[in-house]
Amino acid sequence: MKKFFVSVFVMVFSIFGMNAQELKSPNGNFKMIFALENDGTPTYQLFTKNKEIIKKSKLGLELQKDKKSLLNDFKLVNEVRNTFDETWKTVWGEETQIRNHYNEIALTLKQNETERQIIIRFRLFNDGLGFRYEFPEQKNLTYFVLKEERTEFAMTGDHTAFWIPGDYDTQEYDFTESKLTEIRKLFRGAVSENASQKQFSDTGVQTSLMLKTADGIYINIHEAALINYSCMHLNLDDKNLVFQSHLTPDAKGNKGHLQAPCVSPWRTIIASSDARDILASRMTLNLNEPCKIEDTSWIKPVKYIGVWWEMITGKSSWAYTDEIPSVQLGITDFTKAKPNGKHAANTKHVKEYIDFAAKHGFDAVLVEGWNEGWEDWFGHEKDYVFDFVTPYPDFDVKGIHEYAKSKGVKMIMHHETSGSTRNYERHLDKAFQFMNDNGYDAAKTGYVGNILPLGEHHYSQSILNHYQYVIEKAVDYKIMINAHEAVRPTGICRTYPNMIGNESARGTEFQAFGGSKANHTTLLPFTRLLGGPMDYTPGVFEMDIAKLNPNNNSHVNTTLANQLGLYVVMYSPLQMAADLPENYNRFLDAFQFIKDVPVEWSTSKYLEAEPGYYITIARKDKNSNNWFVGNSNGYNTRTSTVTLDFLEKGKKYEATIYADAADADYKTNPQAYKISKQKVTNKTKLQLKTAAGGGYAISIVEVK
Ligand code: NOJ
Ligand code: CA
Repeated sequence: MKKFFVSVFVMVFSIFGMNAQELKSPNGNFKMIFALENDGTPTYQLFTKNKEIIKKSKLGLELQKDKKSLLNDFKLVNEVRNTFDETWKTVWGEETQIRNHYNEIALTLKQNETERQIIIRFRLFNDGLGFRYEFPEQKNLTYFVLKEERTEFAMTGDHTAFWIPGDYDTQEYDFTESKLTEIRKLFRGAVSENASQKQFSDTGVQTSLMLKTADGIYINIHEAALINYSCMHLNLDDKNLVFQSHLTPDAKGNKGHLQAPCVSPWRTIIASSDARDILASRMTLNLNEPCKIEDTSWIKPVKYIGVWWEMITGKSSWAYTDEIPSVQLGITDFTKAKPNGKHAANTKHVKEYIDFAAKHGFDAVLVEGWNEGWEDWFGHEKDYVFDFVTPYPDFDVKGIHEYAKSKGVKMIMHHETSGSTRNYERHLDKAFQFMNDNGYDAAKTGYVGNILPLGEHHYSQSILNHYQYVIEKAVDYKIMINAHEAVRPTGICRTYPNMIGNESARGTEFQAFGGSKANHTTLLPFTRLLGGPMDYTPGVFEMDIAKLNPNNNSHVNTTLANQLGLYVVMYSPLQMAADLPENYNRFLDAFQFIKDVPVEWSTSKYLEAEPGYYITIARKDKNSNNWFVGNSNGYNTRTSTVTLDFLEKGKKYEATIYADAADADYKTNPQAYKISKQKVTNKTKLQLKTAAGGGYAISIVEVK
């Protein structure tokens, strides 16, 4: 581990003309200029290779009306510069080692009238800028309530944006590609229905936001280390093309309750003229604290199947019975209720999944709908909805545990909270103890529906604190967490790597709820995945959902080969094979790729990338010399050209290529794929045709 610190303390006197501070990235490509306006308003400006990419933008925070806001009237009283260079080891990740290298400037600002001090800390990396507000301990600023954070990101032009609607409760939207000035007119059309949602403005969008300038610079705006603060959205002033930070309010409309000393999350701007650099950026992780879990030996990547897709498609049900319209836990007697015949989480059926997992080498099986309460779980803003420890009469917890153990398969617990955070906390210790007692070491949590306490949002500060509480509590029980419908991640998995998954975007489930755009997975790695892995649940082989449930006419908008490519394109240490065993049995040759693809990598190479259009990534298995390549393609048929120069020189390999057949198309012919084998070396160049909504997957195995 290499560590290098330089500290320079400079007292700065506020003499007119001395108020601009310049910071350069270690390689000199980025330059940030900080300045105070005449009225003492802090501003920053960002350049890459001498091209301005963020125009002069204001910084500051508006406090609730009883306080003078932290917006202006500042003078610069201290400046500290540092250089930091360290390489740290990941517990899991796209690579085993990550370099964290930046130049930093921390500027202490003092407000003339109130004598309050804030520090604005800027870190400039070779891939972009991170900055945050810090509130040191002081007499004149102890407890304070945010009315709004007033950070600006002033655009240099009417860029192309790949955006989803700003919302306090959900990110489960398809992306829209448009000019910034077109967001307003396209906004309503971009909003699709969700169990809980609240937009705040017709020009409000979410981070991570991907942008492309007319001269080909890719810019990404997001945040890092979102802890004990509310989630930031961006509201566009579309006349001046300035994004303004917009925090998620709490039930009273406040945007955050802070107590000094404390810090805001980092605001991040990653930029490059090569889109692949955005995918390769580790800035978001680097801006998070190092791992706080001492012994991480129990944290293990997982490839799993689940009693899940059959409920999502409507073929089966989470509920045990159709006879009980309203459940009262502890009172409702399920042993007296008539089973509905569609309850998938029954012992016999679960054992079939365990057999399939054991036969094909999966690590684990997820079971949803195992616990009492699903008859009326949803849409009632119900507080006491589940107790997380009481199984339905047909789910034998102990018997299943023993059976799974005998087959070398782990079970994944499901905790749907229905948004009732209070109820989950009420039961959390017992629920985790129950998991420990029954051999479960991973939980999928979920927050469908409006949040309880009522009036709070999925992304308000106190609810974010709930998600964090669950992650930290899980550490005590050595449990890994995969949260659905929680806030989108901001790199916290570096600090708490037991957070092995998150949904927090539009996942594969939406393919069974009417479908997603065919280029969706050419955007997620540029946006949602920058903050951490997603439990996207790929691997659907039957695209015609009516074949599973005649009442559901959804169509999965990808080819089968694309589904295989996603195991490499969509990095996650937690990967599901989402489809039903019977559909895998129909395509065992293609299924082989899902069996072979690892979930642990030692390094990753970004071969081709254009947001919204295509992504090709190669990754090396952490436990062998084998490589795997994945491609996801958008709406246009395309020939992908890749050189395998990442392979070791002088070594011989055999590549198995799972590609779209010549006549494949996501809509009309999604299951047309072809599998071929060929010998390859580091000199091999491959040209592969990808269909609309298509893709490919390649496994490259060393030949000894
Ligand atoms: C939504 C989740 O995303 C999905 O995976 C889960 O099956 C349902 N909620 C039920 O909890
Ligand atoms: Ca979901």
